[in-house]
Amino acid sequence: ALCRTLGLLKPDITANPVFLRQVLAQIHDHPTLGIVHQKAVQWSAQDAQSFYAEHRGKFFYQRLCDYMTSGPFMALILEGPEAIRNWRNLIGPTHPIRARLSQPHTLRAQFGLTDTRNSFHGSDSIDTALREIKFFFPELQL
Ligand code: CMP
Repeated sequence: ALCRTLGLLKPDITANPVFLRQVLAQIHDHPTLGIVHQKAVQWSAQDAQSFYAEHRGKFFYQRLCDYMTSGPFMALILEGPEAIRNWRNLIGPTHPIRARLSQPHTLRAQFGLTDTRNSFHGSDSIDTALREIKFFFPELQL
């Protein structure tokens, strides 16, 4: 079924025009995924804490919030059949170093730096996608 998902191009990608252009080109080349909305976002500490509330207390929580507030990043709504799964397949495993061995063609394998600075996000379910799209695009009628 046609569906939508929320993608993030995290601050390290958004800060680098060459990387950003390469990433957008690879999304454009995907046979079914399309970007239907995009915006630049600059988070406060409170925004990061709210979006990543489920990770509160984990050892990487503070560095995750620091990373995501380090500069502007891009929020995307991606649409297409099986968009949630296809976007997660395109970005690849959470851990970029492992991704380079197992799935070197994925975006995290190509651009990700560390377990925290993994350059991309994708919603993991229909419920999460709806919640995350509302978080970043509250002005859209869903
Ligand atoms: P994301 O998919 O945006 O959702 C949670 C984020 O936490 C994840 O990307 C990484 O940036 C970070 N993260 C997840 N697991 C780890 C880990 N084991 N060590 C450090 N950072 C992590």
